Amino acid sequence: MPKPLPIQFQATNLDALASEKGRIAVLADVGLPTSPGFRRLDRLTKGALSRAFGSEAFSKLKPGEALDLAFPPGLEAEAVQLVRLPKKADLAEARKAGAAIGRAHGTAGSLVLAEAHARAADIAFGLALRAYDFDSHKTGDRKVPGPVTLMAANPEAVAKAAAPMAAVAEGVFFTRDLVNEPANVLTTHDFAARLAAMQEIGLDVEILEEEDLTKLGMFALLGVGQGSESPSKVVVMQWHGGKKGDAPFALIGKGVVFDTGGISIKPAAGMEEMTMDMGGAGVVAGVMRTLALRKAKANVVGLVGLVENMPDGRAQRPGDVVKSMKGDTIEVINTDAEGRLVLADVLWYAQERFKPTGMIDLATLTGAIIIALGHENTGVFSNNDELCNAFLAAAKAEGEGAWRMPMGDAYDAKLKSRIADMMNVGGRDGGAITAAQFLQRFVKPEVPWCHLDIAGTALLKSDATLAPKGASGWGVMALDRLIRDRFEK
Ligand code: BES
Ligand code: MN
Ligand code: ZN
Repeated sequence: MPKPLPIQFQATNLDALASEKGRIAVLADVGLPTSPGFRRLDRLTKGALSRAFGSEAFSKLKPGEALDLAFPPGLEAEAVQLVRLPKKADLAEARKAGAAIGRAHGTAGSLVLAEAHARAADIAFGLALRAYDFDSHKTGDRKVPGPVTLMAANPEAVAKAAAPMAAVAEGVFFTRDLVNEPANVLTTHDFAARLAAMQEIGLDVEILEEEDLTKLGMFALLGVGQGSESPSKVVVMQWHGGKKGDAPFALIGKGVVFDTGGISIKPAAGMEEMTMDMGGAGVVAGVMRTLALRKAKANVVGLVGLVENMPDGRAQRPGDVVKSMKGDTIEVINTDAEGRLVLADVLWYAQERFKPTGMIDLATLTGAIIIALGHENTGVFSNNDELCNAFLAAAKAEGEGAWRMPMGDAYDAKLKSRIADMMNVGGRDGGAITAAQFLQRFVKPEVPWCHLDIAGTALLKSDATLAPKGASGWGVMALDRLIRDRFEK
């Protein structure tokens, strides 16, 4: 599995510039830079660099954008990359500048001249995030990325600021790897094993097997997995970094390792995308990893429901009635509305066992949220303005799109069933909202709760600023920040 690139932080070493064989990135704003590194490179290239920096092309770049001077005479480098970054760049601009370097980073390595820039650590973070590549199933032409050296005026301070960010990058990568992994590799068993391995970094990890889930009465969850050869599991990950005895905050994830739709089977076209239907569980796992790696001073519990939604002779049928752990009965009108059945039981279990101070669930829950918000924003649903606003603020600060959606009794009424306490679908109209209403029936009114529908944001259809096409890791940064701001200040 790819790990974030290790980045060496060093004091600026002018003599290393002439012999660098990889790529050299120079960060500067429009107007000729005056830094020692720039002046040395300019002298070596007989002024090519000042011509490039003075060019119209460079002046047209936005903050964080870059242009390449390829195979510059006078240097051994493959390229000098001119990255436009104002001195007073904000977080997003600095990450974007780093990402421009990370996107171009190759086997020969990169040398980054950040010199005295105040956001050198953010540049390194953006670089690491964008250099991600999921290539573990490629044979033959696998390319090993070269080393990265970032030269800064104050390398110790930059390294110190970058250390917690490396923990976040590793969490994001863990999420991306899980989401990118195909379903024949990432079975419920394999997923649980990868989570159990996090005991090595200090998490308490428990795996509840079908026998345990049966004893607990989680028949809503078990019904979803009963048509699969992969046994259903609930994995509980606890991070005890806060005060002993303080109730934890809970993160809950939908972990459908593959969603065929079950007997209400999905059309063939695009079904392969449903390997990402464990995206919610993937984010929970990534956040727990980050919290453990940076030794967060908070008590957080992550719970994921791992199931596979398959149609076989034992599979759940449309029209079946199942009993949830809460005790409410559910008429399963559509076996493809399975995520909410899984979450219903995990949400209830989380509250009964941990009495959390609040909870956030994440799920690739509905196609309807993609119709509503596209791929730019996660749909946020909540019973609590304070928690919801805190989450929205954290997401905004991290540049992760999130938009609050409405809820209400009129939507809830759509779930009324003729023969059971509720149906698992509320019709096509407002489908993401009725799904959230279904979940809310399993949330105690006094527990602050947010539901994040990440069906549109978990997977990128094309390259983005901080990630290549494929799994985005959306939410790891926002949730890590929320926990930091809420419990560690
Ligand atoms: N996993 C899907 C939702 C989904 C769709 C995620 C597209 C990512 C991309 C979910 O289990 C599902 O099938 N939802 C149905 C619900 C419907 C049957 C009420 C949907 O959205 O069509
Ligand atoms: Mn489904
Ligand atoms: Zn699903």
